Amino acid sequence: MSEVLAATGEAVDSGDGPKPVRIGLLGRGNVGAAFAELLAERADAVEAATGRRPELAGVLTRSSGDFEAILERSDLVVELMGGTEPAREYAIAAMRAGRPFVTANKQLLAQHGDELFAVARECGVQLRFEAAVAAVIPIVRTIQEGFAATEIDKVYGIVNGTTNFILSEMAASGAGYDDILARAQELGYAEADPTDDVSGADAAAKMAILARLAFHTPVTLAEVTYEGIEAIQPDDLAFAKELGLSLKLLGVAERRGAGISVRVFPCFLYSGHPLAPIEGAFNAVMIQADAINEVTLSGPGAGGLQTASAVLGDVVSILAGDAPVHETRTELPIVGDVPSSFYLHLEVADQPGVLARIATVLGDHDVSVKSVVQRGIGEDARLVMVLHECLESSFARAVEALNGLDELRGPARSIHVIEEGF
Ligand SMILES: NC(=O)c1ccc[n+]([C@@H]2O[C@H](COP(=O)([O-])OP(=O)(O)OC[C@H]3O[C@@H](n4cnc5c(N)ncnc54)[C@H](OP(=O)(O)O)[C@@H]3O)[C@@H](O)[C@H]2O)c1
Repeated sequence: MSEVLAATGEAVDSGDGPKPVRIGLLGRGNVGAAFAELLAERADAVEAATGRRPELAGVLTRSSGDFEAILERSDLVVELMGGTEPAREYAIAAMRAGRPFVTANKQLLAQHGDELFAVARECGVQLRFEAAVAAVIPIVRTIQEGFAATEIDKVYGIVNGTTNFILSEMAASGAGYDDILARAQELGYAEADPTDDVSGADAAAKMAILARLAFHTPVTLAEVTYEGIEAIQPDDLAFAKELGLSLKLLGVAERRGAGISVRVFPCFLYSGHPLAPIEGAFNAVMIQADAINEVTLSGPGAGGLQTASAVLGDVVSILAGDAPVHETRTELPIVGDVPSSFYLHLEVADQPGVLARIATVLGDHDVSVKSVVQRGIGEDARLVMVLHECLESSFARAVEALNGLDELRGPARSIHVIEEGF
């Protein structure tokens, strides 16, 4: 353990009042540079809140600094490098040396959470990661502390700002995915390589972390099924508007029977849903449990300063000594096939009896129609339906059967829908 910082965050008074708390900073990019600035700016406030004045003990980048030397000089380590290696190695070394560890690195937690939490417990040190999920929204703290004794049924929401910006812009402008992606890149809302965001992989890593915390069970990124927004067409959004729906990329972690389901997928929401009005690069997460009904938190899900604020909040929590270490209580199985509602978009020959034929195929697979919009397009027609909840496996078989019909002019397109009104 560090000389001046016990695991509880308790200051050790050397006689001349508490010593400053020395922070080793790994990474000085977008978030790291903002954190270093914020730390200097807010040092008085941190001291007033915790009795300890923070100062930087050293900074590691790819081209400068030495990890071992920084670790030696630090009481607490903040990792803002990204990537899983050497971040994992540094996290373990820091915690084994008794240093509390703060990170904003979702991949690190989603892929190596079991190992890192085990080391934190074994060494009796704090491991904090508020900024790893939805940046400045205090969702980790809310689940881990506010609802520590609450049996959570479901955590879900919009946890990727890039995709929410793209979907909001597509709906507002009617432009296609590629055009809006290019605009998002120009405005700095999407990376040069946007794959992680648009494929749903980034949201999946965040949902692995939230599921682990909410259900006290080990969940890794590999167990989260995800799909992204690359295949969304402008006319899906136009038809959805007519049906009163808005499209979001949702991460959903929920109890299902004796297990849990953790998934990411594009999903239509009715306008009364609390997540429907979340537009642009914002994030929002909902927690549902019998004891609390429903809580929704929303705010900026990224940004250097915003993320750095959440990181500094973790530093303050450690110094104040009030943070529990996450513990696995049970091993819940992942449930693969769950009931869902769907939007279905079909282009069909405009002939008598086609609609009835399609309804029969759906009915044969226990899938029933809630609402339909039909438009003529020359010789053909476009049918857009919202279906009642059915097992995803039944729906997949129904789509396969529909794709085999001669009357279909192209493959069926489908998107999840959350059916309940609010
Ligand atoms: N940006 C956001 O809005 C945001 C939001 C939430 C969470 N996060 C998370 O915060 C972390 C940092 O993100 P960022 O956007 O600040 O990244 P970034 O701008 O790419 O900065 C990364 C920093 O880490 C350093 N670094 C990378 N690999 C290193 C290595 N192997 N050894 C030493 N230094 C290394 C880089 O050094 P050089 O300066 O030498 O290149 C750079 O200073 C990531 O885990 C990210 O997922 C970011």
